[in-house]
Amino acid sequence: MTYGLHLPMGVDPNRPSASRIYDYFLGGTHNFAADRAVAERAIELVPELPKIMKANRAFLHRAVRHAVADGVTQLLDLGAGIPTEGNVHDAALAADPRARVVYVDRDPVAVLHGNDLLAGVPNAATVHGDLLDPEALQDDPQIRALLDFDRPVCILMIAVLHFVPDGPALDAALAHYRTVAAPGSYLAVTHATNSARPEEINRITDLYNRTGTPLVVRNRDQLATIFEGWQLVPPGIVYGPEWRPDPNGPPVADPASYITLAGVGVKAGSSGR
Ligand SMILES: C[S@@+](CC[C@H](N)C(=O)[O-])C[C@H]1O[C@@H](n2cnc3c(N)ncnc32)[C@H](O)[C@@H]1O
Repeated sequence: MTYGLHLPMGVDPNRPSASRIYDYFLGGTHNFAADRAVAERAIELVPELPKIMKANRAFLHRAVRHAVADGVTQLLDLGAGIPTEGNVHDAALAADPRARVVYVDRDPVAVLHGNDLLAGVPNAATVHGDLLDPEALQDDPQIRALLDFDRPVCILMIAVLHFVPDGPALDAALAHYRTVAAPGSYLAVTHATNSARPEEINRITDLYNRTGTPLVVRNRDQLATIFEGWQLVPPGIVYGPEWRPDPNGPPVADPASYITLAGVGVKAGSSGR
């Protein structure tokens, strides 16, 4: 990736970033040498990581299609990363051209590329922000222009909460989203776990912690607390490939090896749609 003099404000190319490491796993080019070094070391530890990240993207698509099929065409993707091809707007707009999508990320590089990639895409925007500051997001003019919180919204937190430590800030943010979401809204989450392959995952956690992008793995019970106040859509919290797999897709032999738990919750009550 070359920026010349145009490196976004606040971006240190020598400091690895979760969005750009992830971009490398997905085969993207929006990453620096420091990001690639972490990604390559992680792949040494768990060689299937690119396959695992692609399976995470596949879950994202299934969750988006599920919400849109239920009439929820407003999508708020928190911790969106770089919205390269095959992201939320692709799945949502293919399912319903009325879909409106806002991507939020705290990494200015992800936002910069998001804006480039979304140029000309109707009803989609990328916003710089922190999911731990939901009031600021709700007041953001770009988000307000695209999303109406009086109607159901599908909130996506895909492969992001494992970068957010436990504590009052996370609890308050989750409570805020739960409270402001209109009945009929969805919450879709994927999350790294060390419930399977603990030794390898603990080594990856050490690697991320050493490189300034601390990783917090959680188990199924901990993920269930994230869904408090939401009704889990069957099959509940499962390994990503087990969540409503595409009936025409190839069977997945060992879902736990994907080290990612996934779930979708719906807010109870009459949606008024
Ligand atoms: C592994 S990437 C996942 C990207 C995307 N959700 C996906 O699954 O394709 C995690 C992203 O979350 C972002 N992130 C981490 N903590 C965040 C926070 N508190 N608020 C907003 N974004 C955050 C990182 O910058 C990174 O882009």
